[in-house]
Amino acid sequence: MTVIDTIKQRIAEQLSHFLPDAAKSAIAHAMHYAVMNGGKRLRPQLVYLSGLAVGAPIAALDRPAVAVEIIHAYSLVHDDLPAMDNDALRRGLPTCHKVYGEALAILAGDAMQALAFEILADPKQMQALALMRLLAQACGADGMAGGQALDLAAVGQVLSQNQLDQVHALKTGTLIRASMLMGLQCGQASNTLQQTIIKVAHLFGLIYQIQDDIFDVEVPTFDRGKQQGGDAELAKPTYPAILGLAGAKSVLQQLTQELALLWPSLPPSADALVFFLKTIVNRSL
Ligand code: IPE
Ligand code: IPE
Ligand code: MG
Ligand code: MG
Ligand code: MG
Repeated sequence: MTVIDTIKQRIAEQLSHFLPDAAKSAIAHAMHYAVMNGGKRLRPQLVYLSGLAVGAPIAALDRPAVAVEIIHAYSLVHDDLPAMDNDALRRGLPTCHKVYGEALAILAGDAMQALAFEILADPKQMQALALMRLLAQACGADGMAGGQALDLAAVGQVLSQNQLDQVHALKTGTLIRASMLMGLQCGQASNTLQQTIIKVAHLFGLIYQIQDDIFDVEVPTFDRGKQQGGDAELAKPTYPAILGLAGAKSVLQQLTQELALLWPSLPPSADALVFFLKTIVNRSL
């Protein structure tokens, strides 16, 4: 098994461990449905790989990894609601509100947010408070939720590239950055390494959302498990919308080259992290 396989298996085990028993209540059932449904698990993998790169004990990374994936899954439940992106398909399955109704989907999202912080609030983990602060900042008004608000406010508007970068950095970049910083928090990272990781996270976060925007145009619904063309239909603020498909791809290539310039600044202990980031940057769906 590769390091990535081991980590993915651990993520699945830890998520099952920390989620409430699905049989307990309707809301717990909805929470399970929203999380245990085959996401790529990008963010928890970033927690483990960043943490392992700075000597964090793997057990110290379990709670931040699970917490950030639960926050991400909650953000998707709300993102899919009729009031936001009004999507019926997520990860190849009907969206949470299509199965459980809007009210329960909203509440499941609320409960997932609370659960993520409950998981982090472990008195036995000395970094607990710092981890909670990192995650809270990343998902609040100056993070994911703020970015989602900007995304919705921009529907039907033509944004400049700088404005769109700001939307993407907040709605997607902040959780990616927090994932990597939470990993570092659990080990020993020099200031220089932290600064490099922040730059990597910034570029990678932008790349990840631009890829998502491009795939929304190009990848058939069946292959990606999300409705193709949904962004254009709703006039969402995306790279293809402001620059066209070719323009979006050219920015993607430029950012990928910029990101590659940072690899030599990372220590050999970050090889698995770099390998993983390269795999994601080069993916085709
Ligand atoms: C989807 O995130 C929303 C974005 C921020 C691009 P992912 O592409 O990581 O979704 P899952 O978790 O793999 O379903
Ligand atoms: C969502 O971006 C980012 C979130 C914070 C959830 P999108 O709206 O593009 O994500 P998808 O395409 O629905 O997964
Ligand atoms: Mg959205
Ligand atoms: Mg969406
Ligand atoms: Mg999208």
